[in-house]
Amino acid sequence: MNPLALQATRIGIMKLIKSKLAILAIVSSAAGPLFADESLPVRNCTWCHGSSAQGFSTAPRLAGQREQYIENQLLSFSEHIRDNPYSRQYMWGAAANLSPQTAHDLATYFSALPPKAAYDGDRELAAAGRTIYEQGIPESNVAACLVCHGPNAEGIREIPRLGGLAYSYLKSRLEQWDEGFHAAAAPMPQIARTLSPDEIDALASYLSFIE
Ligand code: HEC
Ligand code: HEC
Repeated sequence: MNPLALQATRIGIMKLIKSKLAILAIVSSAAGPLFADESLPVRNCTWCHGSSAQGFSTAPRLAGQREQYIENQLLSFSEHIRDNPYSRQYMWGAAANLSPQTAHDLATYFSALPPKAAYDGDRELAAAGRTIYEQGIPESNVAACLVCHGPNAEGIREIPRLGGLAYSYLKSRLEQWDEGFHAAAAPMPQIARTLSPDEIDALASYLSFIE
């Protein structure tokens, strides 16, 4: 991804965000003083993550992601714990100067946006991916993903939503835990290391289609 190329669309995005924040301010005035504050630096994120935070190029979708997970990842980037190449290149800087309050507010904001599915995996592999997702792989001791990520891959508490993330993002995340990059303590490195390339392909395909 070339962030500079995205600058051109920035002004359009800024307008969009402004109108979105205005709507949110109205909506949230009923629920509390959440987003009346236009100083929330949403556009510092959306110029990479897409104007409605549905993901763009290598930047994953944030819309609908679990609030606590987003917050945890921002901390993990700022502390240089999540250290795969794109994290270093793009997110260490983006997360460096966020106050805990801003990180929290951004997480609240993005988690409340409705997610759209990427729909970009291999259709033919989806059934095999679904079997692993729902049943795990008993022969190699891989737990069923749904136990933690939820029956519809919607995530639970601080465990991320996987449904509808882009195929290439899911695939590289599952591969990278076997390449020595950090980002998560147990259980994901152990689980991902046990998956074969074909199994990763199938899982990433299946998950990309989940609404
Ligand atoms: C220059 C581009 C860029 C900017 C600006 C940016 N991001 Fe990212 N972000 C990325 C990329 C690329 C990744 C994927 C990193 C990886 O693969 O490890 C990412 C990953 C993330 C993740 C992890 C998502 C997941 O599912 O694990 C979160 C959370 C995140 N960004 C939040 C933000 C927030 C909040 C902002 C604004 C403060 C922001 N990003 C600004 C490019 C960007
Ligand atoms: C015992 C609970 C557990 C099980 C079982 C589990 N996960 Fe996870 N998974 C997690 C947790 C916790 C995280 C968040 C890790 C972190 O904080 O970085 C995670 C993160 C992920 C991510 C990163 C998502 C993102 O947005 O970057 C992917 C992809 C993933 N899991 C896929 C799977 C798949 C596929 C399976 C089944 C083969 C599976 N997980 C089984 C707990 C689990």
